[in-house]
Amino acid sequence: MRVAVLKGGSSLERQVSLRSGGRVEDALERLGHESLPIDVGADLIARLRDDAPDVAFLALHGRNGEDGTVQELLEILGIPHTGSGVLACIRCMDKVLAKHLLVEAGVPTPEFFAFSELAFRELGAAEALPQIEERLAFPIVVKPAAQGSALGIKFARTAEDVPAALVNAFAYDDKVLLERHVEGRELAVSMLEQDGEPLVLPIVEAIPHDEDFFDFEARYEIGRTEYRCPPELAEDQAEAVAEAARATWRVLGCEGFARADLMLPEGGPPQVLEVNATPGLTETSLLPMACEAAGIGFDQFVERALDHALAREPAPVSR
Ligand SMILES: Nc1ncnc2c1ncn2[C@@H]1O[C@H](COP(=O)(O)OP(=O)(O)O)[C@@H](O)[C@H]1O
Ligand SMILES: [Mg+2]
Repeated sequence: MRVAVLKGGSSLERQVSLRSGGRVEDALERLGHESLPIDVGADLIARLRDDAPDVAFLALHGRNGEDGTVQELLEILGIPHTGSGVLACIRCMDKVLAKHLLVEAGVPTPEFFAFSELAFRELGAAEALPQIEERLAFPIVVKPAAQGSALGIKFARTAEDVPAALVNAFAYDDKVLLERHVEGRELAVSMLEQDGEPLVLPIVEAIPHDEDFFDFEARYEIGRTEYRCPPELAEDQAEAVAEAARATWRVLGCEGFARADLMLPEGGPPQVLEVNATPGLTETSLLPMACEAAGIGFDQFVERALDHALAREPAPVSR
């Protein structure tokens, strides 16, 4: 098969995506497929027309690659692609939209309030901050609606921290959310589609080395976080986490593969933070780690993702 590997692009997660893509290319070579690497840019359509791949593997993260844009272009060109369709990507990329859908479906997610930059500029939304702060209690997590590797996320300890955290988040997106902080264990649940249903892979727990969670961006630096797969969880806890992840997959309409990030508070139900429609696939990424723990090697994962892409119903040409 001729497989276009879409990677790179201009998102802030470009470097991770290049590594994800490179790893997919290596797997394709081992699997005997022809890989056509494409660093996504202004010539994307021309490249796809010239290369005429049978299928596209999406190894893009963040804007354009994960938000449905590239998926839409591929669907217009009639090229099957891995992972979720346009609508699920849109739902996953926008944490505000995803969380509203989860709340509506009764899937626990931390309580939140969301605002656009315009609401602050034109409607004096800042005046409502004291009520929000009282409601959510400190620390409050402030994050941009569009996801990406903890970029733009700050934990506000006091009311004085909130304005700077908001300004910081608005640098990443014109929509931000203030979210209740959940004290608990941090879990990632990777899922693969099997017969139209999400198959939950072994859970990965992220354990920060130091307890200074306010500086959690530092945790993402190499070596600051340890991963355990599978983690020590009581059977009923693990099942509750798996069920929350499956419900989330269904609510957001995911396909192919995805990874949900959750917090597990002590003595409470798991709380869904977000879903990554095109999770990282590097040597240190969590979905490949979970696959490995389930006895699914990286090459096998890639083959499965391609099989799924080719078996999908083609998207309707006119809507
Ligand atoms: N409400 C919250 N309570 C506690 N920790 C949080 C909360 N929201 C985010 N975090 C921390 O920030 C990390 C990144 O947040 P997440 O919502 O998954 O966004 P991203 O898209 O950047 O991965 C989480 O893995 C967790 O460590
Ligand atoms: Mg996350």
